[in-house]
Amino acid sequence: MSDQYLTGKFAPVLEERSDDHPLEVTGAIPPDLDGVLLRNGPNPAVPPDAGGYDWLEGDGMLHQITLGGGVARGYRNRWVRTRKLATELGTPPPTGPGEPIDGPCNSNVLRHGGTTLALCGSGFPLAVSPTLERTRIHDFDGMLASPMTAHPKVDPISGELVFFGVDPFGPPFLRSHVADRSGMLASSEEIDLPRAVLMHDFGVTATRTIFLDLPVVFDLGLAGQGRSLPYRWSPDEGARVGVLPRQGTGADIRWYSIDPAYVFHVLNAHDDGDAVVLDVVRYDAAFDSAPDGSLASSAPFLTRWTIDPSAGRVREERLDDRPVEFPRIDDTVACHPHRYGYCTLLRSGPLSPGTAGLIKYDFLRGGSECFDPGEHRSVGEPVFVRAADGRAEDEGWILSIVHDAARDASDLVILDATSFGGPPVATVHLPARVPCGFHGSWIPSTS
Ligand SMILES: [Fe+2]
Repeated sequence: MSDQYLTGKFAPVLEERSDDHPLEVTGAIPPDLDGVLLRNGPNPAVPPDAGGYDWLEGDGMLHQITLGGGVARGYRNRWVRTRKLATELGTPPPTGPGEPIDGPCNSNVLRHGGTTLALCGSGFPLAVSPTLERTRIHDFDGMLASPMTAHPKVDPISGELVFFGVDPFGPPFLRSHVADRSGMLASSEEIDLPRAVLMHDFGVTATRTIFLDLPVVFDLGLAGQGRSLPYRWSPDEGARVGVLPRQGTGADIRWYSIDPAYVFHVLNAHDDGDAVVLDVVRYDAAFDSAPDGSLASSAPFLTRWTIDPSAGRVREERLDDRPVEFPRIDDTVACHPHRYGYCTLLRSGPLSPGTAGLIKYDFLRGGSECFDPGEHRSVGEPVFVRAADGRAEDEGWILSIVHDAARDASDLVILDATSFGGPPVATVHLPARVPCGFHGSWIPSTS
């Protein structure tokens, strides 16, 4: 991957700030937004060698913006304190088990069972303290035997955390887990795969879990060469989606073949009678040596896979011809039918510089609306927060961190999701630039 991820809007910041004072705001912050927006992303603490930086592997940094009472109460950022970072910078090491599977924990952050977890797909999660300054290796009381995905799903009805892990070094390559509402690991199932693949996300419905066995294959030879992401595109090995009953055992999984493709992110999944609807951001290929160093040479498009058990096949439908990424929904309808979806609209290739704006889809009536952040401004993942009195699924706020290249500064933009294309209801001017990164969550002060 090229060093474009060390410059401009991606350039790491080298200062940990604690701006515990009201921030400058244009517009009016909705008073029902009472909590913090946390966002994770790569931010190498030690400058990497030229040509040797892999964006997906950079040290994680958490950015926290606190809102309440119609005021932006503060901003703070902290590196995710992994064992590697403790060695490099002399930060307090994480507490917890002595032999964890380490990862940069730079991809996502969410709160479940009273614990805030920093996540990546290649290691154990880290539980993060409210000040973001202390971490604890979170292995579910010793029950976790392989890495944990960066994209667990919280079932809004049961409160369960449904997740998986891929162990690239040996069978069982895939494990499926459920933690109960309190965060205690309730079940783990081993699932046979012929080899390890890069499985970044998955789908969960009210009754089933859907796994993506797609042909980005772990290559031990590349790992031996020291490649930080030792994966190769291998379409001849086939692609399939697996459906596992939520209450089933690993032996109950049923696989359905699809044309070779790759998916980093899933918008949502839900049951439709006996069928399963899975909305994904689909690439024709990935890890296929894109000339610009991107992870994929093809553009990503929102695509619906409808898995029909009675016919034994998957129907594919492209939902939009504009390239998108970072799909989100109102998480209170996760695992159930969703009417709306929100994505970043891409200007160029996948995961490469250049977001053109945000897009809101209406899957019931069809159509979409776009938010244009303005010239020289690029958006981050849209996080939806249902308004306190919100009844309809889109009655709420979209939060997105926007980089302004003209000022080399960042803003938190808050949109009214019901008038998506209009001007922001509020723009919080952040005291430091937030490098473009990955995923985040809104954490209400009541959680
Ligand atoms: Fe992701």
